[in-house]
Amino acid sequence: AKHFQLKDDTLHAENVSLEQLAHDFGTPLYVYSRQALHDAWYSYHVAAQGRDVLVCYGMKANSNLAILNEFSRLGTGFDIVSGGELARVIAAKGDPAKVVFSGVGKQRWEIEAALDAGIKCFNVESEAELERINQIAGEKGVKAPISLRVNPDVDAKTHPYISTGLKDNKFGVDINEAPAIYARAQAMPHLEIVGVDCHIGSQITEISPYLDALDKLIALIKQLQSQGITLSHLDIGGGLGIRYTDETPATPTELLSAVFKALDAADLGHLQLVLEPGRSMVGNAGVLLTRVEYVKTNQDKHFAIVDAAMNDLIRPTLYDAWHDVEPVRPRTGSAPAPAYDIVGPICESGDWLAKDRALHLAQGDLLAIMSAGAYAFTMSSQYNTRPRAAEVIVDDQSVHLVRPRESLESLFDSERLID
Ligand code: LLP
Repeated sequence: AKHFQLKDDTLHAENVSLEQLAHDFGTPLYVYSRQALHDAWYSYHVAAQGRDVLVCYGMKANSNLAILNEFSRLGTGFDIVSGGELARVIAAKGDPAKVVFSGVGKQRWEIEAALDAGIKCFNVESEAELERINQIAGEKGVKAPISLRVNPDVDAKTHPYISTGLKDNKFGVDINEAPAIYARAQAMPHLEIVGVDCHIGSQITEISPYLDALDKLIALIKQLQSQGITLSHLDIGGGLGIRYTDETPATPTELLSAVFKALDAADLGHLQLVLEPGRSMVGNAGVLLTRVEYVKTNQDKHFAIVDAAMNDLIRPTLYDAWHDVEPVRPRTGSAPAPAYDIVGPICESGDWLAKDRALHLAQGDLLAIMSAGAYAFTMSSQYNTRPRAAEVIVDDQSVHLVRPRESLESLFDSERLID
């Protein structure tokens, strides 16, 4: 990873040594590179080729306010999935007019808040939700902008837990039923149909699943035109993968060039293209810095017990996900490096971060768990009453603490004893 490199035998984030950061802020620590965030955004900016493309950052990947604010200043909108995320966008000075609201379970208060904020679009996932939004918009005397999230029934060829475009899952409405549902939406007085939406999965490395979905969306848009329904945007969701180990994911330019080509061929080049990338905006912009507390050997198995755990990074145990592990100050050993399981202190066998990694290690060493910018801090918890890690953003030689480590008291100071 270009923004995390060895300099003077020590792993750096941009021009700050991770040793220095561990010393100043303690571990476990999330470290993000501001330049990496910029570069990820820029890869989408370039891919847009000057056309009308709105990147609505899928903020569930990493919703730290500083990151949201950074992207917002670069011009992005946001894909939100809760009233909580909307509140974060507003707190980070994001523009609600560039917010799309996805999710199968939007509650009344969330719909109200989104209407009050004036979001760009609700990505509606069921008929019942259409009715609820119509009702609430009517009470407020406004028209709610909506897209239907359709399920194109394509295989995103990714992990089943993060594949969302097949017809037997909970997301969206069956694309074959969409024309009838759009017709019903058109008849609802407090809705304004503005687009169509789909999201087929995550950590997708090829463009073919997108193009399969796009073909079906184009056919749907044509069908809607014949029903007198015209759209102003097409949202193809997020999902582009990143390199965790040796993947070679398609680039935004490869994806968008193919999308523009298909849209132009279908005479739909005028549609605004909305994207909801999450992982590819932040995944490789962050590492989780952790220290080896103990090294031990049980039978023939070597364990490095570190101060980060599954509460900090749950992806390995939840998805069997691979994150590279890099020593901050690599040791050179003459004997072959033993294979370590990198585990945390939590009382569960599932508390591991990496398995069978050939490393020369000793107690006190620092390790960087790579590609930890996405779905890492945001999925963290306080299990075992462990304060959540601090987060810093490095910008060249400067360091910004964007979330201090939680204090112990804050973990339970709102709890109450009963008599
Ligand atoms: N839009 C919608 C409607 C989504 O559900 C998601 C992610 C995104 C956009 C952003 O997708 P991305 O570009 O990040 O692939 N926790 C899992 C990933 C879950 C993704 C959920 N939806 C993981 O750690 O791999």
